[in-house]
Amino acid sequence: MTDDQTMRVSEDQRLLKASLDLVAPVADELIASFYDRLFSTHPEVRGMFPAVLDPQRDRLLKAIIGLVTHYDRPQHLLPAFAALGRRHQRYGVRVEHYAAVGAVLLGTLAEYAGEAWTPRFQGAWIRAYTFAAGSMMQAGAVADEEDDEQRLAA
Ligand code: HEM
Repeated sequence: MTDDQTMRVSEDQRLLKASLDLVAPVADELIASFYDRLFSTHPEVRGMFPAVLDPQRDRLLKAIIGLVTHYDRPQHLLPAFAALGRRHQRYGVRVEHYAAVGAVLLGTLAEYAGEAWTPRFQGAWIRAYTFAAGSMMQAGAVADEEDDEQRLAA
C-alpha cells in the first residue's frame, strides 16, 4: 500500500471502530432488525437461511468485528473472505444479493447510530463492505467456474 492508502485505511479503521462502539449497546437489536429488514425488502433470500436464525446472527457479527479488527492487514483478511465467498456461492448467494445486503446493513447501522451517524462513517462502511463483498464475490465467481469445469469433465 502507498502512504496515502495506509493513512486512508487507518482513518477508516478508526471510523469503523468508533461506529461499532456507538451501536455496541444495541447490537442484538440491530442484528435482529437487519434480518427483519432484509427479509421484508428481499423475501426471495429468506429460503437460503435456516428457519431458526440465532446462531447465524452471532456469526455475522463476528465476521464484521473480524473485518474491523484486521482492517489494516487486508492480506490476513483476504483468505478468510475468499473462503467465505466460496461457501456463500454454495448457499446460493449471487452478485445482486450482495448489493441488497450492503444497502440494508448500512441503513440499519445508520438508524441505530442515530444522530451520531455522519457521512464519514457512511464512507468508511461503504469502502469496508465493498472490500469484503468484493473479495467474496470474486472467490465465488472462481468457485462457480470450477464447478462448471467439473460438470463438463464429468
Ligand atoms: C460482506 C458480506 C457478508 C458477510 C461478512 C457474511 C458473513 C457470513 C458468515 C460469517 C456466515 C456463517 C457461515 C459461514 O461462515 O459460512 C454466513 C452465512 C450465511 N450468509 Fe452471509 N455474509 C455476507 C453476505 C451475505 C449475502 C449477500 C447473503 C445473501 C442473502 C448471505 C447469506 C448467507 C446465508 C444463506 C448463510 C448460511 C446460513 C446457513 O445455512 O447456516 N450472506 N454469512
